Amino acid sequence: MAVVGDPTKIDLAVNAKIQAFLGKLPSEPYPFPIDDAARHRGEAVYQTNCAGCHLSPAGKPRNELVFDVGTDPLRSQAMGTLAASLLSKVLMSICPQTQPECAFGPEGPVVDPSTHRGYVATPLPGAWAIAPYLHNGSVPTLRQLLVPSLRTTSPFLRGRTSYNQADGGWEWEPQKEAAMRAKGDVALALHDLGQAGFSPVGHGSDSNPRLVDGQGKSVRVVWSNSAEDKRVVDDLIAYLLSL
Ligand code: HEC
Repeated sequence: MAVVGDPTKIDLAVNAKIQAFLGKLPSEPYPFPIDDAARHRGEAVYQTNCAGCHLSPAGKPRNELVFDVGTDPLRSQAMGTLAASLLSKVLMSICPQTQPECAFGPEGPVVDPSTHRGYVATPLPGAWAIAPYLHNGSVPTLRQLLVPSLRTTSPFLRGRTSYNQADGGWEWEPQKEAAMRAKGDVALALHDLGQAGFSPVGHGSDSNPRLVDGQGKSVRVVWSNSAEDKRVVDDLIAYLLSL
């Protein structure tokens, strides 16, 4: 919903139609082959361990989509009670609840985040394309998200156009920069994990590989890099790439 410009000039009905249309667009399909048997096995692992948080948000109170999974807290602390209520007022003045397009539900347009901080567990269609992962883009591949012992702690490259099919994510290794520039990748930038808010932690850890999901069930979200665990992670990546 547009919040800039002159509120009287915003066509709410048209905006609502555009939002509904955008929401129904399918995600870009994964452009490379996927091992179907692995994808199938991965789907079972996903249903057991992941679906309890990454469900479609339809009809759920917005606070129930937010989980603290131990990722970098800085961005979640950006808004307090006062800022949330001011933003609520601005939105309500642009989009009064008397308008059918402005049905914000009982929580109003902005949920006060101060008592329930964390990040939204979004549905994951098109997950293959949105690397690097987490709200701060600090984990370059799906494999690193699922196997924290493999996570890079050094600055890595963003903005590449070549894809790492084995790990699920755009190529990220800084030592490949010169070769990539020679191939025409011009939008490369280093993502410095040392900056405030950019820490690549959370969503499970080696010492605590389980989380409690939205149904109150303890589920496994990280694995080691052992040969046995690698099979599970490969299956899960195959499934995630297919979404
Ligand atoms: C307790 C709830 C919970 C469970 C269980 C859970 N996740 Fe998540 N997941 C989250 C939250 C919250 C985030 C966002 C964290 C952030 O951005 O800091 C997230 C982020 C992600 C992301 C990155 C999305 C993005 O936009 O970058 C992926 C991929 C993901 N989860 C996959 C999984 C998989 C696969 C599993 C199962 C093995 C799983 N999740 C289990 C809550 C959960």
